[in-house]
Amino acid sequence: MTRNPVGKLLLFGATGDLSQRMLLPSLFNLHADGLLPEGLTITGTARSDHDDASFREFAAKALDTFLPEDRKKPEWIDGFLKRLQYQALDASSTEGFPALAEKVGDVSDGLAIYLSTAPSLFESTIKGLESVGLAGDTVRIGLEKPLGYDLASSKEINDAVGFGFPEERTFRIDHYLGKETVQNILALRFGNFFFEPIWNAHGIDNVQITIAETVGLEDRAGYYEGAGALRDMVQNHILQLLALVAMEPPARYDGTAIRDEKAKVFRSLRLMTPEEVPHNTVTGQYVDGAVGGKIVGSYADELGKPSKTETFVAIKAHVDNWRWQGVPFYLRTGKRMATRRSEIAIQFKPVPHSMFAGRGGILQPNTLIIRLQPEEYIQLLVMAKEPGLDREGLRLREVPLNLSLDAEFAGTRRRIAYERLLLDLIEGDQTLFVRRDEVEAQWTWIDAIRAGWNANDVKPKTYPSGSWGPSAAIALTERDGVTWQDD
Ligand code: BG6
Repeated sequence: MTRNPVGKLLLFGATGDLSQRMLLPSLFNLHADGLLPEGLTITGTARSDHDDASFREFAAKALDTFLPEDRKKPEWIDGFLKRLQYQALDASSTEGFPALAEKVGDVSDGLAIYLSTAPSLFESTIKGLESVGLAGDTVRIGLEKPLGYDLASSKEINDAVGFGFPEERTFRIDHYLGKETVQNILALRFGNFFFEPIWNAHGIDNVQITIAETVGLEDRAGYYEGAGALRDMVQNHILQLLALVAMEPPARYDGTAIRDEKAKVFRSLRLMTPEEVPHNTVTGQYVDGAVGGKIVGSYADELGKPSKTETFVAIKAHVDNWRWQGVPFYLRTGKRMATRRSEIAIQFKPVPHSMFAGRGGILQPNTLIIRLQPEEYIQLLVMAKEPGLDREGLRLREVPLNLSLDAEFAGTRRRIAYERLLLDLIEGDQTLFVRRDEVEAQWTWIDAIRAGWNANDVKPKTYPSGSWGPSAAIALTERDGVTWQDD
């Protein structure tokens, strides 16, 4: 991959929550590690009224709040703050763009734009950028979600962006792709021989993907109430994980080869008919309960009104191709769950015949667990003999073969997902960004589920905060004889 670093970065939404928590700390870390191009200037823009000095103060405060102590070296912070400047902008009209362009300066050495903005502002922002020459050949754009709420609105946004930026200069962010363990799925599958021969319907019984969160609505009522778990987590993060598990081996590690294979998976997802949807999906909404020993209120209380938005969803999905025929992919995600855990569990087929049957050993099929967070590990559950003289037959027990990535790579700092993605944006590597055809195939599948919910007037079932979701989610797998990995 030839790297083609830009000389300037322009951050929209520079005073927002994501910027404070993730973007500024990530850029700081890249600076501190000497990874940002020398002389790269970072222009922040947002509605808020700041000048360069007050924006630097604002950024310093964010760094102080969100960086770990051992990273707060004054010389790093000073050096980083010197890269920053600010221009206030109302992106709903093109008026303020000339001043922005002047602040950014000459973009012949390349400009990367990071756009995290309300979907309603996409069109005017792109037009504004176009009108002042900030969308030319040397400019690339990174787009943060939400990129629409269904296929039609996503197309509209993609068209609006496409007006200024062709696909090869458009970088759609799914921050899960910036996580080390997510990239490790590729290393595990395609850097090792032994899984591939059984990585298919002959060897695998089912795949489970879980993203469980303990947080509730946080301060995002406006967005979340209109989105719900299906759009917020499944359309993007969970489907990306599914694609990495299910895709065919790409010929090369590059943006075209990898995204071609992922797109094929999305296009192979079995579309559900409205009649099938209630059978294959479960929705839930949290009510009062306790998470981590703390009493917490219901979603409706947090929102301040009753709502039909799902804060939990479980889905039985199928990938209709030769490799995966008949293998269910069970997907689930929810807020206010029992613990925070993102995990992929691959359950292999049972042995065809057990010579231990009836002799004190019950064989469990092997399971491969890829834990993404909070810990990072890969675990293969295998059967092993329990020590003993075996007077009543061999006793076997399931034990984990463990690869703790935290321990194995203890000397390496775990980076924020955005560090990787921002650097790739700055250097022009699209491999870990989502292509338009991927997004549209994802929405097509998601829209069919929503259509089924609407047609059947499906309302979310309640579940207590601190649980694993409504009991129907357990039934979703149990009726196939499958148990969720953690239950
Ligand atoms: C975001 C969702 O995309 O991902 C949030 O909008 C969610 O609702 C977050 O909390 C989860 O990300 P992570 O990295 O904390 O698992």
